[in-house]
This record gives sequence, structure tokens and C-alpha cells, in this order.
Amino acid sequence: MGLLDGKVAIVTGAGHGIGRGHALELAKHGATVVVNDLGGDVSGEGTGRDADLTVELIRSRGGTATANYADVADEEQSGAMIAQAVEEHGRLDVLVNNAGIVRDGAIFNMSVDDFDAVIRVHLRGTWLPCKHAAVHWRAVNKETGAPVNGRIINTISGAGLTGNFGQSNYAPAKAAIASLTQTLSLELYKAGVTVNAVGPAAATRITATMPNAPAVIEPDEIPEDEWNPMDPAVSSPLVAWLASDEADHVTGQIIRAVGENIILMHGWSDGPGINNKGSRWDATRLGTQLATDVFRTRAPGLRY
Ligand SMILES: NC(=O)c1ccc[n+]([C@@H]2O[C@H](COP(=O)([O-])OP(=O)(O)OC[C@H]3O[C@@H](n4cnc5c(N)ncnc54)[C@H](O)[C@@H]3O)[C@@H](O)[C@H]2O)c1
Repeated sequence: MGLLDGKVAIVTGAGHGIGRGHALELAKHGATVVVNDLGGDVSGEGTGRDADLTVELIRSRGGTATANYADVADEEQSGAMIAQAVEEHGRLDVLVNNAGIVRDGAIFNMSVDDFDAVIRVHLRGTWLPCKHAAVHWRAVNKETGAPVNGRIINTISGAGLTGNFGQSNYAPAKAAIASLTQTLSLELYKAGVTVNAVGPAAATRITATMPNAPAVIEPDEIPEDEWNPMDPAVSSPLVAWLASDEADHVTGQIIRAVGENIILMHGWSDGPGINNKGSRWDATRLGTQLATDVFRTRAPGLRY
């Protein structure tokens, strides 16, 4: 028995890079894969049939896959993508939202178009497939009365968790996807859908836009038994496990898979605070209070 036998999965942006790695891995474990890709360049310009490349690879390895060329950020096209999985393969079990573009530049150089395009593909292009899949799964759940055992796996980035110079479009889009993941894990829990996010790192078209970046590698160019920390498929075993029945207790988690490490990320949590004991704050005193008990840049002196 394969880990994912009988499951039907969609992987968005799976024509190249990390998405291709995920699609190959899910198929290796027995899933039927709908390989989505718009086929544009790394900045989101143009369209093409790049999804076919991954479909051919899966088929040549004995797996089952069909292509989808939707723009995931288009409402109608992303709806048709979810419908395609159900109509062609009879069901949908797993949605991996991975499609992405970059248009880097410091904010004083970045055009409004470059901001909008990156937010659109990452955030709207994750939200829309989630929305269409959620509507489908909720209807199945209502009809059968049983949890659907669905899986959503989104893609975040270290840039979204800590910020990154030149990415005032990409970093907040990825941070929003982390928040979306946590929110949807609450909203879809009852229907039986887990929602998690994975943060990868790899030598892909996206990283190749950065100075001194390593050359682009496609995951099928690396032999199965060879370890390369920048292999786009480094995070794919984690994605396959999260997609499996074994991971039904894991939801709302943000997990990075970088090089040799898999790391559970901890989000915002309460730090030091001050309490006004039921009276209004006084702005003229706040500087001293915050310096003493929040930022701790001022010694409090002796306190009895
Ligand atoms: N490479 C890294 O180190 C890294 C690190 C953190 C996160 N990521 C994320 O991983 C994901 C995959 O990126 P990658 O590095 O493999 O780059 P990539 O360019 O190789 O793959 C991205 C794919 O998404 C497709 N795509 C773009 N816009 C689309 C749209 N509107 N609809 C459908 N498909 C679309 C592209 O055609 C491309 O094939 C992205 O979300 C990226 O932000 C990458």
C-alpha cells in the first residue's frame, strides 16, 4: 500500500521547481495528481503548457496525472480546476497551494503593479482554490454526514515570517498565507479538513532572481538517491506526509523544511507587558513605563 493510494491531489504551480517536486512525490506514493501551472515566467508574464512537462514525468514513472493550465488567482479558472479534479478523477482529497512569482525591489523603487501582481498570485491565488475546495468539501460533508478527510497544504516563506529587504510585496503575501492557514484550520475543522503550511528553500527560478544565487535545478535532474540541500523536492516528503491519513491530527501548523532540517515555527506570542490597573494610560508617562517594564532599556532601581 502506498501512503497516498486512492487519493486525488491538486498541486498548483507544479510545472517547475518545488511544485514539480511535490507532484512527483505525491504520485510516487500513489496519489492521482492534477498538475496545475499557468506557464508564465518568474514575474508572472505570459502563459504556456509547462504543466505538461510534469504530467509526462509522472506518467513515465508509472503514475497518474492530468494537466491544468489555470491562473490560480482567477476566480472562474481556479473553480474549474477544483471541478476538473472531481469530474475527471471522482474526488478531491488534497490541495497543495504552491504557485508563486516574484517582482523584487525596495519599496521606493517598486511599482504599484508589481505590488498588486505578487499579492494577487500568492494571496488571492491561495485563497481562491481554498474557497472552491472548501465549498466542495462542505457539500460532501453535509451530504454524507462524515468528515471528508481533506488536506490543504499552503506555501509560506521565511521572508514572510521575519521580513526581507526588497520583498515588501512577497513577504506580506506569505505572512498573510500563514494567517490564512491558521484561520482556515479553524473554519474547516468540523468538515474534517486539515490546513497547514510548509516553508521550503530551493534553487529555483524564484531564487535565481537574487544576486549570487545558485543555478536553477529542477527536481527530476537530481537522482533519487542523491542528497542536495537545494533540491526543490527537499520539502516534498513532508508535504506527502501532511497529505496522508497519518497526519489527521496536525492542523493550523507552519512548518519549514530547509536543507537537512524540519522545523515547527512558533508564531506571535505575548512578551513583557504593563497593566494600567483600570485607569487611562498617560502618554507623557508611557515612555518611562515602556522603557522600564517592556523594552527594559531603563533599570527599574530597587522595588519593594
Ligand atoms: N525557492 C525557494 O527557495 C522558496 C522559498 C520559500 C518559498 N518558496 C515558494 O515556493 C513556491 C514555488 O516556487 P519555486 O521556487 O518552485 O519557483 P518556480 O518559478 O520554479 O515555480 C513556481 C511555479 O508557479 C507557477 N505560477 C506562477 N503564477 C501562477 C498562477 N497565477 N497560476 C498557476 N501557476 C502559476 C509558475 O509558472 C511556476 O511554474 C512559491 O510559492 C514560492 O514563493 C520558494
